[in-house]
Amino acid sequence: MVHQIDYSCQVIRRQQPNRSYVILTLESPEIAAMAMPGQFVDVSSDQFLRRPFGIMSVDREQGTFAIGIRVMGQGTLYLSRLQPGDKVSILGPLGHGFCLEGYDRIITVGGGTGVFPLFFVQQFCREQNIEGIAVCGYRSAEESILTEEFTQTACAVSFASDAGDMTVAGHAGIALQAVIDDLIETNSDISRTLICACGPKLMMKTAARLAKQAGISCQVSLEERMACGVGICLVCVCKTKKDDGTVEHSRCCVDGPVFDAEVVIW
Ligand SMILES: Cc1cc2nc3c(=O)[nH]c(=O)nc-3n(C[C@H](O)[C@H](O)[C@H](O)COP(=O)(O)OP(=O)(O)OC[C@H]3O[C@@H](n4cnc5c(N)ncnc54)[C@H](O)[C@@H]3O)c2cc1C
Ligand code: FES
Repeated sequence: MVHQIDYSCQVIRRQQPNRSYVILTLESPEIAAMAMPGQFVDVSSDQFLRRPFGIMSVDREQGTFAIGIRVMGQGTLYLSRLQPGDKVSILGPLGHGFCLEGYDRIITVGGGTGVFPLFFVQQFCREQNIEGIAVCGYRSAEESILTEEFTQTACAVSFASDAGDMTVAGHAGIALQAVIDDLIETNSDISRTLICACGPKLMMKTAARLAKQAGISCQVSLEERMACGVGICLVCVCKTKKDDGTVEHSRCCVDGPVFDAEVVIW
């Protein structure tokens, strides 16, 4: 369901866990009540177009939600400088999130800013008593983000870094393969296991391939560039497969951002 409602949200908290990221906690009882893991918000800045961000977490009791921001250009720079008390116009929650129903184990595989929406998945798993396993890939320990939060929330975690200074040396795909191998070696029932991936395309493609090889379902959250965020402009189209195998163009903002990995044409 698309909620095209513009909320004026007050910044409640600003955290800067390291030099690359800022986390903003924003007040909106409406967005906090409706948001589901994998959905995003479209945030206005000093730029003409809004900027999309995956919802990182919600506190339904407090009526707040959080987003994590990596500064890429002018829009994210502006948003990263917001301070408690500032107000910002936000559309949301938008898009289709992950379909998590019917699974008893969920493995999240995130890289870069992709770890933010996946933290919401782990939060959901904890609330619903689903076994959550978090795999995160970073450039280095210094650039890592949310490691404490994932450790406290998920049942098991595996952190990989390109620099080789975290538990697993290399990319998130290597860490995911180790998690899958472990499940197979311990004869775990994987029929109700789901892999949720978000991050660089190559990482998601690897996660989809490893999931397929192991016979595990996989959903991926695509982060195409967006303009309107609500299905009108077609800036965000990506190629997907229909049931009959023919190619169609899907709008990432309203048909996604989460898609079954099987339908994505990489
Ligand atoms: C569904 C969705 C969820 C997202 N979630 C998050 C999130 O949780 N945290 C976060 O920090 N960012 C997230 N992003 C990316 C974020 O929206 C962009 O980084 C932001 O719009 C850049 O705006 P800007 O004005 O700072 O930079 P711009 O000047 O617009 O761009 C600066 C640079 O960033 C690149 N860029 C812009 N948008 C994207 C994109 N979507 N994917 C890859 N590269 C891009 C541009 O190509 C350019 O090189 C998400 C994007 C989508 C589509
Ligand atoms: S961003 Fe405009 S249709 Fe998706």
